[in-house]
Amino acid sequence: MTKRVLVLNGPNLNMLGTREPDIYGAATLGDVETLCRQTGAEFGLSVDFRQSNHEGELVTWIQEARNTADAILINPAAYSHTSLAIHDALKGVGLPVAEVHISNIHQREAVRHHSFVSAVAFGVICGFGVTGYRLALIALADKLK
Ligand code: DQA
Repeated sequence: MTKRVLVLNGPNLNMLGTREPDIYGAATLGDVETLCRQTGAEFGLSVDFRQSNHEGELVTWIQEARNTADAILINPAAYSHTSLAIHDALKGVGLPVAEVHISNIHQREAVRHHSFVSAVAFGVICGFGVTGYRLALIALADKLK
């Protein structure tokens, strides 16, 4: 049976491809969406792919996922390091969460070493570029079996 994954992207990820390409690479968010849809099709997942620059909108989407998704893949971007609200929403919705970062946050500034989301995620992938989205979807497909 097809399982539904909500793929959420936080602030500034709409700028992928032009934003600090030395850190985040050349792929655009559209490329990431295509990668997620292809991976989903391969592993029996339907993908609802979204991006927002607004914390509250992400919180609302997470709350709504209770009725519309079986799992959440999230790259919370800068909100990883600041948002107790996103942590609480993910904890409250009770779905399996995979956290993805394109860059290796542990190799970067100290402020990026802690993520509020990691404590409510069953796994965290970082540093593998946009391939991390594919890896996380494969892990979610396995988890949802
Ligand atoms: C990021 C890492 C965050 O520290 C940063 O604020 C981002 C993107 C990543 O994908 O590597 O916007 O989540």
